Amino acid sequence: MRGTNPLPQIAESAKVTLDTPMSTPREANGELNRDQIRAMRRSYGELGLTETDLAGDPITQFHRWLLEAAQNPVIVEPNAMVLSTVDEVGPQSRTVLLKDVGADGFSFFTNYGSNKARAIAQNPQVSLLFPWYAMERQVIVRGSAEKVSERASADYFATRPWGSQIGAWASSQSHDLESREHLQARYDEFAERYPEGTPVPLPPHWGGYLVVPRGIEFWQGRYSRLHDRLLYTSTASGWDLTRLHP
Ligand SMILES: Cc1cc2nc3c(=O)[nH]c(=O)nc-3n(C[C@H](O)[C@H](O)[C@H](O)COP(=O)(O)O)c2cc1C
Repeated sequence: MRGTNPLPQIAESAKVTLDTPMSTPREANGELNRDQIRAMRRSYGELGLTETDLAGDPITQFHRWLLEAAQNPVIVEPNAMVLSTVDEVGPQSRTVLLKDVGADGFSFFTNYGSNKARAIAQNPQVSLLFPWYAMERQVIVRGSAEKVSERASADYFATRPWGSQIGAWASSQSHDLESREHLQARYDEFAERYPEGTPVPLPPHWGGYLVVPRGIEFWQGRYSRLHDRLLYTSTASGWDLTRLHP
């Protein structure tokens, strides 16, 4: 698999090209000025993305890119993805970790009382974005989020380190917190209730979501901003592949 789809040359491609060098005088407060920010751009690479290179289905293609990201020492948290939801106020994004991916979709775990969970209950249409900038790549998934089974949540919860399990009990994610001390006191209370080395049950307010994709776009940076964008769209019989203008 890797033989037909080699890694980009990271050392060269990871460089940020500044037309205005960073050494030019900064603002009095030490911040970069507007010209310096505008001058930050990279010359994107040689590695193209062709229809013939791509797998017939986007999940196989995603597995290839995830593997390459995971093997790339420059990529921090290769399974981190930006989840965007929409609620009555508008869109909101935050990072979550991908914990499973397969033919049925992309899974992550969270607090079912959180803002994201409330938004998903109102509107299950979400976006996931994998930002693998150092590889000049991004993947965008659009789809519908649904809760996974309690059994699937319990199975994953059991694999988490004890401290994370206790943290899940202690946190009312996204709700106002009066102080750090209050959180610590809740943590200590649950740590006493479920001592280290004993099984910690799945909190009723915690579990997974599966994002069932209807579209998955693979983006590969190219020279002169002529990037490759290949979009798989779900159809009744499988996946259609379309190339988009960059
Ligand atoms: C690298 C990284 C990974 C994260 N992974 C998760 C995760 O898997 N699940 C989760 O609930 N929050 C995760 N978070 C925290 C979320 O970004 C967010 O702060 C939290 O879920 C509350 O979001 P909400 O108030 O919009 O619901 C992660 C944050 C970062 C920076």
